[in-house]
Amino acid sequence: MTHKLKGYVSSRILEALKWKTSPNNFMPTLLSNHITIGKEKNGTNIEFHLSRTSLKKVLSTSFSDKEVNMSEVKNVVADDIICDVHEEVTKRDVSIVFQINRNMFIKEVLQDITCDTVMWRKTLAQNLLPQSKENKVVIEYSSPNIAKPFHMGHLRSTIIGNFIANLLEFLSHKVVRLNYLGDWGTQFGLLQVGLEMCGYSETLIKQNPMQLLYKAYVEANKKAETDSSISAKAREAFHCLEEGNTENMEKWKLFRYYTEQELRHVYQRLGICFDEYKWESEYSAKDIGSILHSLEARGILKTESDGRQVVEINQQWRVPIMKSDGSTLYLTRDIAAALDRYDHHKFTEMLYVVDNAQTDHFTALFGILSNMQLPWAASLKHVKFGRIRGMSTRKGSVVFLTDILDEVRDIMAKKQQESRTTKVFLDKNEKTTDILGTSAVIINDLKQRRQRDYEFDWNRALQVQGDTGVKLQYTHCRLWNLEKNCGTSLPLECDPSVLQEPEAIFLIKDIARFNEVIMKSYEELEACVLVNYLFRFCNLINRAFDILQVKNEDVYVGSQRLLLFHASRIVLNQGMKILGLQPLHQM
Ligand code: ARG
Repeated sequence: MTHKLKGYVSSRILEALKWKTSPNNFMPTLLSNHITIGKEKNGTNIEFHLSRTSLKKVLSTSFSDKEVNMSEVKNVVADDIICDVHEEVTKRDVSIVFQINRNMFIKEVLQDITCDTVMWRKTLAQNLLPQSKENKVVIEYSSPNIAKPFHMGHLRSTIIGNFIANLLEFLSHKVVRLNYLGDWGTQFGLLQVGLEMCGYSETLIKQNPMQLLYKAYVEANKKAETDSSISAKAREAFHCLEEGNTENMEKWKLFRYYTEQELRHVYQRLGICFDEYKWESEYSAKDIGSILHSLEARGILKTESDGRQVVEINQQWRVPIMKSDGSTLYLTRDIAAALDRYDHHKFTEMLYVVDNAQTDHFTALFGILSNMQLPWAASLKHVKFGRIRGMSTRKGSVVFLTDILDEVRDIMAKKQQESRTTKVFLDKNEKTTDILGTSAVIINDLKQRRQRDYEFDWNRALQVQGDTGVKLQYTHCRLWNLEKNCGTSLPLECDPSVLQEPEAIFLIKDIARFNEVIMKSYEELEACVLVNYLFRFCNLINRAFDILQVKNEDVYVGSQRLLLFHASRIVLNQGMKILGLQPLHQM
């Protein structure tokens, strides 16, 4: 039996729930990690469920096997907030039900968020994961290859990795965002040959590095099919690079420089940034002598009859890590990179956000590092994801990410002009349409379960009414506009007695569920948990919007409702930022 749902419990409620007689002085935070919000009772109370198993866990020393005595529980909880405590027996579990005074609950929830938003965020993180400050997590994501277009696997990695990094940062972890770019391997020898064939110049590269590199790569591949000398040349060129030939290396640095510039531009459009850019070529043959040494010293490096060097992961599995000509492999460079990252960051955890197709690669990598008896090898994790099928530009040409982003931006601009519902917020600014377009792309991806393959559907991704990124932006703009233009100001204090409509109560309970949702997304590293919550939340906001007038209402009532909408916007805004969206004020 697991108790993973976490309900919102403000510090005051927690204090009230504290088991005063507990000998082990349990942390209220533990309690908040085991509580779920239940239904409303008698129209006045909100139920919180804590399973008996959890209660015992929380109070393990005093109650290990003994029955929990309900009257004892009743005696110790503060009675102004908690109105009743009783047991509820269901098929699955026995839970202790705390009934919390609804008005108290409303006040706690809304005031906690709106009084001091920064504090609210901090306390939330502290309550959910008290130890996280000590964690340093390196997250590697995006990691495209130069020369090949930034494909959809890289886009997923970028979007999912950014979400995970934001989420961990929100939960107070120290996060290092790392982009590991592919610029090494035999195919880069081919690229070198291709560039010579294209008669490249620095000015040409500067103009559009990705396109030029790609063109060179395609040309060389084509030529290599009919001319065997090309492949030989490519191998030779790569060999030179591995040996560290200075002239080649200088050119290489230039490609990298311009590629990095162009990538930064695309990432900026997506609202994504990295702390570090690392290149595969930084871990070339000349830099890995010591690794081979240490593998040899442990007796796990073997030389095959054809001259390749392999590592024995277990009796059935040997993986090559050096070619017979002494050049490195993808796996070799990953071993070196992992060691380098640990050296620099002394991380507590490292995540690789890379597609399912590379599962064997990472199993081998983690196996080798653990055979090297590196104590941190167990803290590495491959965060996998499925494929996107059918995503190309509408014209069906090669997918450069910039083309996709340009296309969605243009479609969004057109939709905005046609739409009646969004006319109120019509903002023709190109930046706005660009953000709308990227929001649609990001959410279309994050609403899927991470490991599932999915089909990309342009029409569905860009709808304003459906469950899309546009809807989240639209609702955020609506709330922002209300706050700016309603002519009412926020009340000094929350008065729950005027927030009793079902639309208000639903919304407040959903606001309170934010913690639970964050925690579930974190435990499963699944953005869709948060995305689906926000879709539902937006529906509730939009419904409340239609019923709970602020503008043409009694000023007192209006200001209380404004408080509710203000709290909703803070939660929506926070959720959107964690997903990697840039919340808009106008669209
Ligand atoms: N550049 C690689 C590719 O496009 C992905 C790199 C994944 N990360 C790693 N550490 N191997 O396939």
